[in-house]
Amino acid sequence: MSFSPRSILITGASSGIGRALAREYAAAGVRLTLVGRDAARLEAVAADCRAKGAVAEIGQVDVRDRQAMHDFLRATDAKHPLDLVVANAGINTGLPSGALAEDPEAVRGIFAINLLGVFNTVEPLIEPMAARGKGVIAMTGSIAAIRGLPYSPSYCATKAAVHLYAESLRGTLARKGVAVSLIVPGFVHTALNENLVAPKPLAMTDEQAARKIRRGLDRRKANIIFPRLLYWGARLTTVLPARLVDFFMVRTNVDVPVTRERMTS
Ligand SMILES: NC(=O)c1ccc[n+]([C@@H]2O[C@H](COP(=O)([O-])OP(=O)(O)OC[C@H]3O[C@@H](n4cnc5c(N)ncnc54)[C@H](OP(=O)(O)O)[C@@H]3O)[C@@H](O)[C@H]2O)c1
Repeated sequence: MSFSPRSILITGASSGIGRALAREYAAAGVRLTLVGRDAARLEAVAADCRAKGAVAEIGQVDVRDRQAMHDFLRATDAKHPLDLVVANAGINTGLPSGALAEDPEAVRGIFAINLLGVFNTVEPLIEPMAARGKGVIAMTGSIAAIRGLPYSPSYCATKAAVHLYAESLRGTLARKGVAVSLIVPGFVHTALNENLVAPKPLAMTDEQAARKIRRGLDRRKANIIFPRLLYWGARLTTVLPARLVDFFMVRTNVDVPVTRERMTS
């Protein structure tokens, strides 16, 4: 049976993959709650969704704010029980070319958003969804989680943690009727990586990514991986000699901008 969520909450819905996913699900009979920090961009996405017949409201909440997230998520879920939550908000940061170590503040900033932000999104919904015995919790990881990349140590570490968190929750929650899906994208053309200097093999648009995510959720996949070829390429690097892979990786011309995000807003 196909999965047709009626009440959906997406974090990071003001841009990129989250925005495209909101538009993908927007239709008559669907209620979307769009979470992000930029109210104007969220409103623009909500207007797109309403034009497609959906009911859309915005939640201007910083995923780093645990209490605000808890209160907003619980209030939203109490009014319109969520069938699907997508913990998708995320940022990128990396090593400026020639640098040996990442900016410690940027490292803490990315963990606060990419990892603690996922906890802040998922934790408040576990009990209400389990009490109803249904619902889907999706989290956005990355193919960058499969093998550590020398250019973005903390980004890879946050995403690897998300992968293991999702995997760890899945079995326990399945017994309560709640499904956990891990979204594992390769390169998607979004604001997140527009200033990234790197080869971006098999890159796709955010609309293409959103269609793949929806298809994966429809099929109730535990892991929604795309593109598969890049994923298997990443997996291959984990069985090759580590020093050989390092040798080639550090010689690839990659420049990942340092984020300005910090622990708190
Ligand atoms: N693009 C890729 O190639 C790629 C590949 C693999 C995985 N991913 C993952 O996909 C997810 C979405 O990224 P994207 O590429 O769509 O990037 P994006 O276009 O930059 O969108 C990021 C979204 O996250 C939100 N966000 C960032 N910090 C936030 C915070 N503190 N509180 C609330 N919302 C916050 C942003 O909203 P505001 O600006 O309104 O705060 C924005 O809506 C991320 O988890 C990313 O790691 C992306």
